[in-house]
Amino acid sequence: MSQLQEILLAEPRGFCAGVDRAIEIVERALQKFGAPIHVRHEIVHNTYVVNDLKAKGAIFIEELAEVPPGATLVFSAHGVSKAVQNEAQARGFRIFDATCPLVSKVHVEVAKLAQEGYEFIMIGHKGHPEVEGTMGQLDHGIHLVEDVADVARVQPAQTERLAVVTQTTLSVDDAAEITAAVRARFPSVREPKQQDICYATQNRQDAVKVLSAQVDLLIVVGSPTSSNSNRLRELAVKLGTPAYMVDSAAELLPQWFEGVTRVGLTAGASAPEILVSQVIDRIKALGAVSVRTVPGMEETIKFPLPKGLKIETVVD
Ligand code: F3S
Repeated sequence: MSQLQEILLAEPRGFCAGVDRAIEIVERALQKFGAPIHVRHEIVHNTYVVNDLKAKGAIFIEELAEVPPGATLVFSAHGVSKAVQNEAQARGFRIFDATCPLVSKVHVEVAKLAQEGYEFIMIGHKGHPEVEGTMGQLDHGIHLVEDVADVARVQPAQTERLAVVTQTTLSVDDAAEITAAVRARFPSVREPKQQDICYATQNRQDAVKVLSAQVDLLIVVGSPTSSNSNRLRELAVKLGTPAYMVDSAAELLPQWFEGVTRVGLTAGASAPEILVSQVIDRIKALGAVSVRTVPGMEETIKFPLPKGLKIETVVD
């Protein structure tokens, strides 16, 4: 007989303010201008969200050459380089920028400090679109480090004006360790006043720390491309709790639940709640009898939509 009893839900989990805003930008652009709306890169890294928007008329592309003249183009939540921004403008598209305001904040900081002659050490994952976007704010002078070993190898042209920036969706603990290594090698390095890792990444990791101690297994809902979702799974494993990441309920395997009494459930910042509900139903079908939310940090942050897509109030 199954001994599976309880599902413990992490709070907060799922959509953050930047993801909410990015999806709403595509949906409103579709309403206002009609299909198709072109989107550079997956608007957020989630298969369900991307397929849902495709069905509504969004076309996802990687190269701007794929977009016809005069089209409406949305930049994804991860942000874009200056080169992409300039090319899109030169091609004359109607552009809406769904870059998360917390990523844009990092871009602004990079531009400001570069004017003052700073070079940068960026902590992030090579090839991730956010890293490409942030590094692409400058022609040169941003050095990427992925781990502590990279810090020993980095060769800035000077060390008097050196600043650290990070991807917003890193492991908080790994980033702190890498930053410490940067500080040890370059003691005068300038660090962000407030860390670049965003509130949503921090809160979801904090919730997993609380939850991991109370469960035998953690399930993370998220797509393989989602940086913050991957970090949630890794964090649980690091804390000694077996954890799996699934893109949908169909990926859950019954054998994961053998010998498990309590299962924790969370979702990355780009994973919609509907997938969490479907995962709950599937775990219940495997034997769980109750669901309980473990209270955590309340999130009230909301980001405004770009001009031209705000709700127009109709006055009779
Ligand atoms: Fe923005 Fe953080 Fe979400 S950078 S898109 S609030 S995960």
